[in-house]
Amino acid sequence: MNPCNLNQLGVDRESRWAVGHFNIHNQEFTRAVVRAAEQERSPVILAVGMMSIKYMGLAPLISSCRLIAQETEVPVAVHLDHARDLEVVRRALDLGINSVMFDGSSLSFEENVAKTTEVVRMAHDCGATAEGEIGIVPHGTARVSTEDMTDPSRAVEFAGKTGVDFLAVSLGSVHGMKTAGTSLNQDLLKKLHEQIQVPLVLHGASGVVDDHLKAAVANGIRKINVNTGLKVVLKSFLRTRLVDEPDSDLLADLDQGMGAVCTAVVSKMRLFGSSNKA
Ligand code: 13P
Repeated sequence: MNPCNLNQLGVDRESRWAVGHFNIHNQEFTRAVVRAAEQERSPVILAVGMMSIKYMGLAPLISSCRLIAQETEVPVAVHLDHARDLEVVRRALDLGINSVMFDGSSLSFEENVAKTTEVVRMAHDCGATAEGEIGIVPHGTARVSTEDMTDPSRAVEFAGKTGVDFLAVSLGSVHGMKTAGTSLNQDLLKKLHEQIQVPLVLHGASGVVDDHLKAAVANGIRKINVNTGLKVVLKSFLRTRLVDEPDSDLLADLDQGMGAVCTAVVSKMRLFGSSNKA
C-alpha cells in the first residue's frame, strides 16, 4: 500500500487510542517496526530524525521507508521528525514524505508561529500533514520546569494561527531517557485536550512509565513518539549476542536483533491501543 499522511492512519482527536511513531535509522529498524505493525494489524508511523539523516542520508531513508511501506497492507506514514530548517522540510516533501514536524520550540512564540505556518502551507500543498510543537520537551535533563510545560492559552492560539494537523505538547517528558521513570502532568493534558481541536502528540516516551503512557492515551494523546528505548533494546541484545555467539553470522545477529526491536514495538502498540486498528 502507498504510504499515507497522519490524517489517513485512522486516528483522530476523538479516538480512544494513539498511533505509535517509531524513529528508524536504517532498513533493519524500518523492517522491524513494519513487521510489528503487520503482526498487530496496527497503523504505524516511520519517523526520520536529524541524527538518522546525518547517519544514512535523507533520500535513502525516505525511499527505503516508502518501498517497505508499499510491500505491506497496514497503513504506514513516513514522517520527518524535529526539522528546524525549512530547507530540510522542502527536500523531504520533494522526496515524497507524507508528514513533517517543525520544531520551533526554541524560538520566540511569534517566530514559531510564523515558521510553523509556512511549514503547514508547504506540507498541505503536497497533500502531507504537519505537526508543530508548543512548550519545551528538553533533551537529557532530569526534570521539566513548570515554565517549559505547555501553556493552554498559548497552545490554543498556536494551533489556531498555524493550522497544524497534530500538536506536540510538553507534559513532563524528556527526550533521550534510557530507562522509564518519568510521570506526566495528566491534569494539564486533560485541559489541553478539552481546549485544543487537533490531536495531541507526546514526545520523549522512552522515559515515561507505562501507567502514565496508558493514562495519557485515556486523557487525549493520539500520537506517541518512541526513539531511544528501541536503540537500547537493540544494543543490549547485540551486547549479549556477540559474547554468547562470537562465531555467529552477522546477518543472523542483525536478524535476531530486529526480532528484539519488533517485540518491543509490539508491546508499545498494545499499550497505545493501536493493535487491530488497521
Ligand atoms: P525518546 O528518544 O525519548 O523516545 O523520544 C522520541 C521522540 O520524542 C522523537 O521525536
